[in-house]
Amino acid sequence: MKEKTVLSGMRPTGKLHLGHLHGVLENWKKLQDEYDCLFFVADWHSLTSEYADTKGIEENINEMIIDWLSFGIDPENATLFVQSRVMEHAELHLLLSMITPLPWLERVPTYKEQMDNIRDKDLGTYGFLGYPLLQSADILLYKADFVPVGIDQVPHVEFTREVARRFNFLYGNVLPEPQHLLTQYPKLPGTDGRKMSKSYNNSIYLSDGDEVITKKIKTAMTDPQRVRRTDPGDPELCPIYAYHKIYSSDEQKDYVVKGCKSADIGCIECKKILTRNILEELAPIRERRQEYMSNPARVKEIVEEGNKKAGALAKKTMEEVRRAVRI
Ligand code: TRP
Ligand code: SF4
Repeated sequence: MKEKTVLSGMRPTGKLHLGHLHGVLENWKKLQDEYDCLFFVADWHSLTSEYADTKGIEENINEMIIDWLSFGIDPENATLFVQSRVMEHAELHLLLSMITPLPWLERVPTYKEQMDNIRDKDLGTYGFLGYPLLQSADILLYKADFVPVGIDQVPHVEFTREVARRFNFLYGNVLPEPQHLLTQYPKLPGTDGRKMSKSYNNSIYLSDGDEVITKKIKTAMTDPQRVRRTDPGDPELCPIYAYHKIYSSDEQKDYVVKGCKSADIGCIECKKILTRNILEELAPIRERRQEYMSNPARVKEIVEEGNKKAGALAKKTMEEVRRAVRI
């Protein structure tokens, strides 16, 4: 029996790209062996900004779960579930909303940032302001000890601790304060050198086929200084080398660095080495992906089992919460 509980969620933004794999999922995969892990699809969180266009959400949830499973998140070892299938998230969110001062929400950094930056959607809603509180409900509902998150989400875990403290002060000690586990990983650039992101159209997806990946790498940006084959390059300025760092052996990296700097190798050769390595590493993952894709009943069963397990834990906490609140 593992002692400590880890909980983390991901919004169903669609299929996962290599940046996700080498950040979040690799971390989850390690954690699942050491902790009692709950990983869930935060579909209600998606609604806080995507409420006007909900048609893709169901498909995205399914794609995301399949990507998790294919990557090696193990349903025997971790609980995978969908937030909206465990109603207690909503109930705890509601009860917490009664005791959460508005200014606490208004000063969460992600709130201000997104209100300023996102112009194509009306985010002046109650639900969007409450995003971090819904996240607090997710975390506190399972009395999670640790919450692995990227740096931008750390304030949400801090906020959760404040909410828990206020609840405990008012109603007695029921909700333990969670700690964040900062997920640190080298940022993987997209094929154009910018951050890898769906909206930039520069991502390599787990679900891409061999030919698609080969082509994406072939046309990817390299060191812009290296115009001609005879120009020496600087690997540190090249997105392709950022991938080599993850996918290639030390000897290969050495070969690429020397060859690039001396113009002994061309970008085509360099990219070929990389492509081979990426395809090799992704092959078993994509094979599993195919298996899950052709067995939707199995995927459904895994998620339903996870929903049930999460639901039982949630029910237990809510019984304590209701008793404490006297409602
Ligand atoms: N807000 C998180 C993100 O965008 C997703 C999320 C929702 C989450 N609820 C959570 C993460 C609870 C950790 C714990 O990445
Ligand atoms: Fe980039 Fe490789 Fe070309 Fe150097 S040789 S610029 S590392 S692709």
